[in-house]
Amino acid sequence: MPVISFANAKGGAGKTTAALLLATELAHQGFRVTVIDADPQRWITQWREASGPLHNIDVVSEVTVASLQCHLRELSSRTDFFIIDLAGARDALVTTAIGLSDHVMIPVQGSAMDAKGAAQILDLLSFLKEKANLTIPHSVVLTRVTSMVTTRAMVAIKGLLAARGVNVLSTPIGERIAFKELFETGGTLHTLDPQKVSNIDRARDNARAFADEVRRLMPMKVVRSGTARIFGFGRNAA
Ligand SMILES: Nc1ncnc2c1ncn2[C@@H]1O[C@H](COP(=O)(O)OP(=O)(O)OP(=O)(O)O)[C@@H](O)[C@H]1O
Ligand SMILES: [Mg+2]
Repeated sequence: MPVISFANAKGGAGKTTAALLLATELAHQGFRVTVIDADPQRWITQWREASGPLHNIDVVSEVTVASLQCHLRELSSRTDFFIIDLAGARDALVTTAIGLSDHVMIPVQGSAMDAKGAAQILDLLSFLKEKANLTIPHSVVLTRVTSMVTTRAMVAIKGLLAARGVNVLSTPIGERIAFKELFETGGTLHTLDPQKVSNIDRARDNARAFADEVRRLMPMKVVRSGTARIFGFGRNAA
């Protein structure tokens, strides 16, 4: 069961949103997903508490450097994908989570500050490779992309990353009301009310394309095993 973490040392890069989109889409597709909420701000935990019963998604809160590996070990038999949401930092928990990941996703917005936060994570990945001989696959996913901002900034960031040999997902995550709305209402793109949230079909298509591309990056084929797992309100597997 792959462990996918979302990291960018800068706050507000879109980590939690991208992590939640991936988690809810994989769960929708029938995979059992455990989200490890390793951000002390606990956005995913709050989303979970607002959501009521959900299929195939469990959230683990109160994660520490010491407990992270135990959570992964203890929950591995009932998890198809682990998704770790990290704080906008470069601290011991971020380093530990990255070290335990099969793939690190680095969300990047089209701004210079974000590129800096991403560079810090890329430096950390290089450090782990040099000092610990640990090669962790990683990709950048462009986030909050609007059609108006196909922009020079985006092209410049892509060029810089390509020069460093970094994989950039071909599916960007768009700037969408529906993605913001998930944190207000809880639930998933499939439980939001299309009468109240505009362009929900496009939002779903975007999340599906993103999740499908992430799945194709995984070294092993993950078999769907979820159908009947429904987790109740406010459950905490810690
Ligand atoms: N694709 C998107 N469409 C619309 N709004 C978005 C999108 N991605 C992020 N946002 C908004 O941008 C803000 C920051 O996003 P998010 O919380 O996902 O970033 P983060 O990297 O997890 O931040 P932090 O470092 O504080 O944990 C939030 O208000 C979120 O709703
Ligand atoms: Mg976050």
